[in-house]
Amino acid sequence: MQIDLDYAGRHVVVFGGTTGINFGIAQAFARQCARVTVASRRRENVDAAVAQLSTAGGEVLGVVADVRDFDAVGGAFAQSVARFGPVDVLVSGAAGNFLCAAEAMSSNGFKVVVDIDLVGSFHVLRQAHAHLRRPGASVIQITAPQSFVPMRYQAHASAAKAGVDQLTRTLALEWGGEGIRVNSISPGPIDGTEGFRKLMAPTAEDRAFALDQVPLQRFGSLDDIANLALFLGSPYAAYISGALIPCDGGGALESVKPALEAAGRRATG
Ligand code: COA
Ligand code: NAP
Repeated sequence: MQIDLDYAGRHVVVFGGTTGINFGIAQAFARQCARVTVASRRRENVDAAVAQLSTAGGEVLGVVADVRDFDAVGGAFAQSVARFGPVDVLVSGAAGNFLCAAEAMSSNGFKVVVDIDLVGSFHVLRQAHAHLRRPGASVIQITAPQSFVPMRYQAHASAAKAGVDQLTRTLALEWGGEGIRVNSISPGPIDGTEGFRKLMAPTAEDRAFALDQVPLQRFGSLDDIANLALFLGSPYAAYISGALIPCDGGGALESVKPALEAAGRRATG
């Protein structure tokens, strides 16, 4: 179920927008008749996303660009702005992750995730800045609960996503005067996505455990996240900036519980 907001003629750029959660966001904006640019590393993902988005409504552009490559990101914006004009909504969601104990993680393994998630996000926002509509642009970063609740075997992603959220808050300060809002969405377990399969529910047992961690007792859907993005991109969210918004059924609260219980046991002997 999607909320209905008019994005006709608005330009929406979704970095990392060719699969999963970010694709769901791109699709929601396309259904509201936005002009949508999606960008990611792999040509086959870009082509498949463009083919599917073209059936959703609006106009679509696909660009191949790796967020680790500052110039390629700049080139993507040059193309999209030449086609659709200033950017009204920017979604920065490209990310990579894998489970690995910190003591087993190579330097390059740590670096690759920080490079994609954190440095890549900086590249996207930095290159977008000159092209954002002012006043009025809305920048939305897709982060994760491990930004504020550290997760075992995700030292790289926890550190990177915490950095992404501080980038959100810092740029909300710096760009607020230009009429640009910057916010983060922190999704919970979103069923049917790569991140959920790979990191939270590789087995049926893990899936059951993950469900138990969600107070609302269901996994999230692509629409749950897309609806929040549609709202944040709209004038109805005109006074929201620098916010880190969980969309997780309350899960971030619940995942603190085991740590608190362990701490409580220690404190009470
Ligand atoms: N366990 C431990 N180390 C791992 C690993 C794993 N499962 N997967 C990758 N690495 C290490 C590699 O060994 C390498 O380090 P090394 O050079 O010291 O050996 C380093 O990470 C880079 O791996 P590489 O495969 O060359 O990186 P890449 O740029 O091709 O891919 C990843 C980036 C690893 C993040 C990859 O998982 C990816 O592309 N993910 C995108 C999709 C995704 O993760 N979605 C989930 C939601 S964010
Ligand atoms: P996904 O399907 O793997 O999406 C990742 C996207 O980023 C893909 O489009 C991928 O396309 C692109 N990408 C990866 N590396 C890139 C790079 N170096 N340069 C440019 N694009 C790159 O994962 P997802 O699970 O939907 O996650 C999407 C976002 O939500 C991520 O930011 C993730 O941290 C966050 N999140 C997800 C969950 C969840 O439950 N899934 C929970 C919390 C947070 P290419 O491979 O073509 O580059």
